Amino acid sequence: MAHPAPALHPDIETILVSEESIQRRVRELGAELKRVYGEEELTVISIMNGAILFTADLLRQLDNPVRLDCIRISSYGNATESRGTPKLVHSLTLDVTHRHVLLVDDILDTGKTLALVTGMIRGLQPASVRVCVLLDKKGRRQVPFEADFVGFAIPDKFVVGYGLDYAERYRNLTSIGVLKAERQQAPA
Ligand code: IMP
Ligand code: MG
Repeated sequence: MAHPAPALHPDIETILVSEESIQRRVRELGAELKRVYGEEELTVISIMNGAILFTADLLRQLDNPVRLDCIRISSYGNATESRGTPKLVHSLTLDVTHRHVLLVDDILDTGKTLALVTGMIRGLQPASVRVCVLLDKKGRRQVPFEADFVGFAIPDKFVVGYGLDYAERYRNLTSIGVLKAERQQAPA
């Protein structure tokens, strides 16, 4: 029997990427990674908190030897607009020198976060650095930056779900949706 359509969360205006589309694209990304890395060992660096669901699903598509580390960057507070310069809050614990580093983030927006993090990683002399993002808001770049692997290019809408938050909420939604405008002003 077909599954009933999941109820739309009341704070979500529209679903932009369904759970099924996410899962299908994550499998494809796993195959794309395989074509590039072959059997090489990867050091995956996930940018918390937004990328943890995507990272967890992506890792399960890889049969390579994988090391996992997480870093935390702050830039947003509770706003839907990036303010100022992102800061590295929690840094690496693994040594990445001479390693193939794959940085994983939820969304590429202004480019500031990934420009900062890739710059920092490059300074540690890895064998290579590549970037995989689930979502790419191409029209929003403030610094030039392109990811090596992109799940979906999306329009300039504030989205939540599958790791992405507004004021730390909605990360647990299984699909990605546009937050209702009136929900973007409510205090946390
Ligand atoms: P950037 O530095 O502007 O590229 O911002 C990247 C970070 O901003 C992402 O890792 C997200 O945490 C956050 N972000 C950007 N756009 C959205 C969105 O539409 N929803 C939720 N978080 C977002
Ligand atoms: Mg983030």
